[in-house]
Amino acid sequence: MKTVEEYKKIIRPFLGDKRYEHSVCVCKSAGALAKKYGADVHKAEIAGILHDIMKDVPPEEQLKMMTRYDIVLSDVERSAQKLWHAMLGAAYLENELQITDRDILNAVRYHTTARENMTLLEKVLFIADFISDDRDYPGVEKMRRAAQISLEEAMVEGITFNILDLAGCYRPIHPDTISAYNQIILKYKQN
Ligand SMILES: [Fe+2]
Ligand SMILES: [Fe+2]
Repeated sequence: MKTVEEYKKIIRPFLGDKRYEHSVCVCKSAGALAKKYGADVHKAEIAGILHDIMKDVPPEEQLKMMTRYDIVLSDVERSAQKLWHAMLGAAYLENELQITDRDILNAVRYHTTARENMTLLEKVLFIADFISDDRDYPGVEKMRRAAQISLEEAMVEGITFNILDLAGCYRPIHPDTISAYNQIILKYKQN
């Protein structure tokens, strides 16, 4: 595995200025969360800097690349273009950048949908993406407060935010998101 500085150079040509800045910010927020909650700081920073590597690749090109890596999309996945860069990103890191660490690959793979039984590192990246310094959507302060309380609190807020956002526009919700939601709500929000 290379250093964060080396990965910064690798991702730069793939990303527009804004997305590059975002990636640097997520690298930082992931490192801080990892430190706070006892995850591997180096892995968290690497996952953070690399997580959106495929996001600015044009959609048609993303589809082509996914066939190359034998990624088969479900109907929900095909309809939700925002999910592609996470699935493709993980495959690209594994096949082209020789990242072999499963936890880093899965953190990138599930950073948009979340899923049941997420590891510490997966949760760290999922939340880091919501609260990075460049973020200014309505609700970001609530998310930042939740991330100070606990990872679980932040996961509840993050997953609920995504579901409300999608359902509000009548968009399909990925089964992994539903499973993640049910698991965490049953565990932390029921009496
Ligand atoms: Fe992303
Ligand atoms: Fe992101």
